Amino acid sequence: MMKNGVKKIGVMTGGGDCPGLNAVIRAITRNAISKYGLQVIGYKFGYRGLYNNDFVELTYDKVSGIQHIGGTILYSSNKDNLFDYEIEEKGKKVRKNVSDIAVQNLKKEGVDVLVVIGGDGTLTSARDFARKGIKVIGVPKTIDNDLDITDVTFGFNSAIDVATDALDRLHTTARSHHRIMILEVMGRNAGWIALHSGFAGSADVILIPEIPYDIHKVSEKILERQKMGKLFSIIVVAEGAKSKGGDVVVNKIVKDSPDPVRLGGVGNKIATDLEKIVGNQEIRTTVLGHIQRGGSPITYDRILATRYGVAAVELINDNRFGNMVTFQGGKMDYEHLENIIGRPKQVDPKGEVVEASRSIGIAFGD
Ligand code: F6P
Repeated sequence: MMKNGVKKIGVMTGGGDCPGLNAVIRAITRNAISKYGLQVIGYKFGYRGLYNNDFVELTYDKVSGIQHIGGTILYSSNKDNLFDYEIEEKGKKVRKNVSDIAVQNLKKEGVDVLVVIGGDGTLTSARDFARKGIKVIGVPKTIDNDLDITDVTFGFNSAIDVATDALDRLHTTARSHHRIMILEVMGRNAGWIALHSGFAGSADVILIPEIPYDIHKVSEKILERQKMGKLFSIIVVAEGAKSKGGDVVVNKIVKDSPDPVRLGGVGNKIATDLEKIVGNQEIRTTVLGHIQRGGSPITYDRILATRYGVAAVELINDNRFGNMVTFQGGKMDYEHLENIIGRPKQVDPKGEVVEASRSIGIAFGD
């Protein structure tokens, strides 16, 4: 029993999937049931489940054997913003604020607290539900590691492990064929995945959104390596990287999504631009894409995700509604959603890892 009278909680996952989501769901459910005797339900497909009142009972059995499995047993959606939702009215598609329906559904099921596991877009809606008086707890989720006031999000380390492995593999072909190999990684408008995988994966050039590049500077590094007898080079580029004075490369626009821009294609652009300057070496581009988001969470992320889940239930017991669980200085903590939304965490171009990269000869194209 919780001393504040909370008896039933709802859990949902929103936005793109991320290794560790199931570990969070499992930890929330187990802590809520075993320590506090709560009833737990899980809404399917994120906010859409809340709108359709589509949920499953989360029992000990239901969350058994899922800690190590990627994806989310509750499914997810990165489109359904109930504050601006597409519905059909009189045969016409219209956009409406349908958040009241979600509120009614929560009341109908007797859900005292909603735990929202998601990234910036999903947590923005969580804040908006909190403003409507719903008791909400946020749990940050993103492989991009771009949420402020939290040092590391679960999934990030699994993603950089995949990207680092890809860089190791690209090295063998680069070396064998004397090629320039470009790896395009995810991260949206933050360069965390590119920076950390490039650092660990012995990249020669790392291009990130926070440090706009000049293609001539990139080629200088490659030519410098050629002079040293290094007849191959590895470039890791964040999907959100842009040239000085240039713009990001957009792959597609996903209507209905709170963040409709899907980045992609900068790796090929760099290959084309570089070929004109460094014509004596073949260039190939690999786009890692969703491979870096799928699969099992690594041990670090299973531990971190489980800690996030346990902490979320403790915040409920402590009446910390409207807050998001954070991880700061090695400890689980919390911060109000109002202070987090709209504050993306980007790489500091003067930060220690960037400086350390420069110290060991990695170029940033600036
Ligand atoms: O935020 C996670 C992320 O994987 C980003 O790195 C990427 O830009 C985006 O989601 C891709 O979204 P989608 O799965 O809709 O293609």
